[in-house]
Amino acid sequence: MSMSKFTVQSPRFKAGKRMIYFVLLAAFSLSVVGCRYDMQDQPRYKAHKKSDFFSDGKAMRDLPEGTVARGKLREDKDFYTGKKQNVGGTAAATAAAPATTVADGSGNTLVASFPDAIEEFPVPITEELVNRGEERYRIFCMMCHGPVGNGDGMIVRRGFPKPPTYNDDRLRNAPVGHFFDVITNGWGKMNSYASQVPVADRWAIVAYIRTLQISQNPNGNLTMPPSRETNTTNTNATELPKPVGLPNSPTQGGTR
Ligand code: HEC
Repeated sequence: MSMSKFTVQSPRFKAGKRMIYFVLLAAFSLSVVGCRYDMQDQPRYKAHKKSDFFSDGKAMRDLPEGTVARGKLREDKDFYTGKKQNVGGTAAATAAAPATTVADGSGNTLVASFPDAIEEFPVPITEELVNRGEERYRIFCMMCHGPVGNGDGMIVRRGFPKPPTYNDDRLRNAPVGHFFDVITNGWGKMNSYASQVPVADRWAIVAYIRTLQISQNPNGNLTMPPSRETNTTNTNATELPKPVGLPNSPTQGGTR
């Protein structure tokens, strides 16, 4: 066996040597890198943790008063409250013109004057809006208020307190803001639907209730209230979700 076998470096031997250098280099660089301060270990507060640094003992700082999340500024009071802006809230309005309250045979709270409710829709009335309102009405209101708003919904027939009909002069003359207010804040025995029905949908439902009232009015003297001049940039109002077809909805299926 000659020595040449060992002195002549075969390609494989060279590769092995390179590999050793590489491993050494890698180990060295890793050890250098290991000296850094790992980001996941940096000294920082976690949300809601306590702190001895701030006098209130909280690590999280309170937001400055009046902070509004981006896109959540509810500047358009008409749209978000259904109340007149100049009256300054329900309390002031009620003090100015106390509403007379009577109870009907079913114990419902019947109020006939709504001094602080807006009379014009804060959104444009379109066919799309009314269709959306019909769909939402059938989901959230019809089981109590009935298909045309006479207060004879299915669960009322099974014993739930009967709501007043939409189709009498009191609610025919009620301003649109009142309906919005009832959905938003509830009314007497009726719960608030604010958590289930978003603001734009509430106006859609109100528009649909108006069409029901018009359809059930034998005198034919009821018309859709006007829409407010679009003086504010209210993009939310027009961005209604697309109506979803209900199998039993008369507006679906092209029979209209
Ligand atoms: C669980 C049954 C129920 C559902 C669902 C329901 N309501 Fe009512 N609603 C009532 C009852 C009961 C009253 C009467 C409350 C009272 O006067 O004490 C009422 C009253 C009303 C009134 C009359 C307020 C007035 O001035 O007398 C309006 C308007 C109204 N509801 C709208 C709606 C709308 C819109 C929806 C759907 C978003 C809805 N309701 C869903 C039961 C219901």
